[in-house]
Amino acid sequence: MHKPKAASSATAALQEKDRRWLHPWDRPNLIDDNARTVFHQADGHVLSDTDGHDVIDGPGGMWCMNLGHGVEEIADAMAEQARRLAYSSPWGTANPPSAILAETLAGLAPGDLDRVFFTTGGSTANDSALRFVAFYNNVLGRPEKKLIVSRQNAYHGSTLLTASVSGKERDKSHLDTLSDQVIFLSSPNPYRRPKGVSESAFCDMLVEEFRHTVATVGADRIAAYIAEPVLASGGVIVPPEGYNRRMWEVCRANDIIYISDEVVTAFGRLGHMFASHAVYGFVPDIITCAKGLTAGYAPLGAAIVSERLFANLRQVCGDDPGVIFANGYTYSGHPVACAAALKTIEILQRDDVLGHVRRVAPRFQARLRTLLDLPLVGDVRGTGLMAAVEATDEKHAPLEKDREIGEMIDTQCQKLGLLVRPIVNLCVLSPPLTVTGDDVDDIVQRLRRGIELAWEELVDRGVVTA
Ligand SMILES: Cc1ncc(COP(=O)(O)O)c(C=O)c1O
Repeated sequence: MHKPKAASSATAALQEKDRRWLHPWDRPNLIDDNARTVFHQADGHVLSDTDGHDVIDGPGGMWCMNLGHGVEEIADAMAEQARRLAYSSPWGTANPPSAILAETLAGLAPGDLDRVFFTTGGSTANDSALRFVAFYNNVLGRPEKKLIVSRQNAYHGSTLLTASVSGKERDKSHLDTLSDQVIFLSSPNPYRRPKGVSESAFCDMLVEEFRHTVATVGADRIAAYIAEPVLASGGVIVPPEGYNRRMWEVCRANDIIYISDEVVTAFGRLGHMFASHAVYGFVPDIITCAKGLTAGYAPLGAAIVSERLFANLRQVCGDDPGVIFANGYTYSGHPVACAAALKTIEILQRDDVLGHVRRVAPRFQARLRTLLDLPLVGDVRGTGLMAAVEATDEKHAPLEKDREIGEMIDTQCQKLGLLVRPIVNLCVLSPPLTVTGDDVDDIVQRLRRGIELAWEELVDRGVVTA
């Protein structure tokens, strides 16, 4: 994220220090030139930088600031917990907030998803889920059932294992992954479906691709399928109607563990605590979550596992003390993070935030789609309070300037008081769940102007013709 205007000397000094910080997805050849916007405080939906500029937090942090900034109740709950008990080791001891949160999550999760493994974020939640699947099959005496099925455009995290099951090709350049352990299916992106194919026929093709893969590779070699209900950073890809449930049916028929990565979609972004059952009508075997779990106030994740899997394990391992799921973190079930999560869930329920999302989301989606009249906008897609605007050329093909275009729009929008999340040629929005209808109108108006200004810049540079 680059600062749109010259920084004050105080900000420039911070930016200089910041160059020592290797940020996620940093570019080695640019680290000495980075001049990031430095935010130093925030309230509600608005972030303030060190030069006194305010911007609306369009991406809601990183899909996480679901209740907005400066929520005193959460800050107080965390401070109180830090004073009372800042830490207790998850190895062998318990503490009230994590015990209560585990029971709360088991109660909120669908079906028999009753065992909660706490982690430090989304990557570690998915990593733990994947390691649990390997553990499960090893204990059950089928070590050859190991392959993981994922999709192009998926994002599941930044550990070796979760990066290996992520399907964003650009993220893999110059990095090694465990490619022999993963099978990638097609991205369920209706916008990029083959020409002349209806959305429902596209859905049939995707499900058939999975069935065919299982038949060819063998169900006895495929351990799990991991999927975000809506592919988030892969471009807010909303799969065709019926897809998620039908893919789950293939898993069920073939004894393949379904891991629903709800790191983004849980805790309200689609208007429900969890999306897999409430929105898409199926109960996965494992749900992973993070981000909205603490509304972004503390790092915490969880893998919520089906009781049925534990029953199967118990049947096989009996009383054998040597069967240990040797996976975990110093900060698993951190009391301060769990206190933030308990307060977040209390507020979501008490203030009917999920009902509010269900009421405001249609306006958010409809207003954003009005941007389709702009020449730079090829697609607007999303569901709930997550959306992406895709910039394309006039033939709806990728633009030559793809890599820069999202950042160009973000830079223009920041000048207009709106932060968006640029991803290649996309602008992604996932505002706090507490946005009102008027906030939505305001966001879309600023985004429209930002895209228009980016277009004018592209015309001036001769990249496109007006
Ligand atoms: C769907 C999904 N899964 C997993 C992750 C990884 O979560 P974290 O960055 O907390 O490790 C992300 C992060 O954006 C995500 O969007």
